[in-house]
Amino acid sequence: MKNRDIISIRDLEKKDIETILEEAKKMEDILIKKQDYKILTDKIIALMFFEPSTRTRLSFEFAAKRLGANVLNVHESKILSTAKGESFVDTIKTVENYCDCIVIRHPKDGAARLAAEVSTVPVINAGDGCNQHPTQTLLDLYTILREKGTLRLNIGILGDLKYARTARSLIYALSKFNSRIYLIFPNELSPHREIVEYLEENNVNFTLSNNLEEVIEELDVLYVTRIQKERFPDIEEYERVRGSYRVTSKILRKAKDNLIILHPLPRVDEIEHEIDKTKHAKYFKQVFYGLPIRMAIFKLILT
Ligand code: CP
Repeated sequence: MKNRDIISIRDLEKKDIETILEEAKKMEDILIKKQDYKILTDKIIALMFFEPSTRTRLSFEFAAKRLGANVLNVHESKILSTAKGESFVDTIKTVENYCDCIVIRHPKDGAARLAAEVSTVPVINAGDGCNQHPTQTLLDLYTILREKGTLRLNIGILGDLKYARTARSLIYALSKFNSRIYLIFPNELSPHREIVEYLEENNVNFTLSNNLEEVIEELDVLYVTRIQKERFPDIEEYERVRGSYRVTSKILRKAKDNLIILHPLPRVDEIEHEIDKTKHAKYFKQVFYGLPIRMAIFKLILT
């Protein structure tokens, strides 16, 4: 995978995904054993974040530094020359001179793809608009594998299937691994027709539902997403759907004993805080799994 861009989960073959997941297990062992593993001491990685982030930016920075690389942080468009009218393309063609790899988050769908097209150094998409968040998906798959041992499970994806890039990326990834996918959403947040058509055309086993209670007892994994308020063109549209779903202790009474609940985070109010104390809650463990995944990606792309 040397020098490859990671822009969309759809660009990765099943074997590429498996390679990353296997490498992540080695990285996890290195982390757990606190081994010295400075394989990127000659590398500089630019983190270009044009949207807020806690987990993705910090875990990429952690991964780079844990492997011995240096990091350039570019996360204030106000202090870049874009504020003086410089184009996005010119900015990328400048930053590529200062680094060996660009990690980019951007509010516009397609921005990471455009960056990769003009950059001579590899580009990793850390989330572009409503489109894709491939490294989140890799850590989601890794979490399921580490917690359940297989991806051939009944996996529910609940919430904002219209705007959440994490959900979109995960649906495409699970379709490669014979998972049975339950898409659970309020009508206002339906998945795009192209996603449903893709699942149909590829004979993926999937179910559409508007009610978590209807399907909860069948699920092995429940992946919850936040309503992406910042993506709504109209705040009234958001207000109409706000609070329309919530995972509660009452709903979980019907769930399998070994159901695990994941969430890419940040959470607003879609999972009751009481659930954090239950054995179902794995979303903070999921945060940890982002570290070995991002270390694995840097290792495979840069060495
Ligand atoms: N999951 C995720 O992308 O979180 P951040 O927005 O905090 O990076």
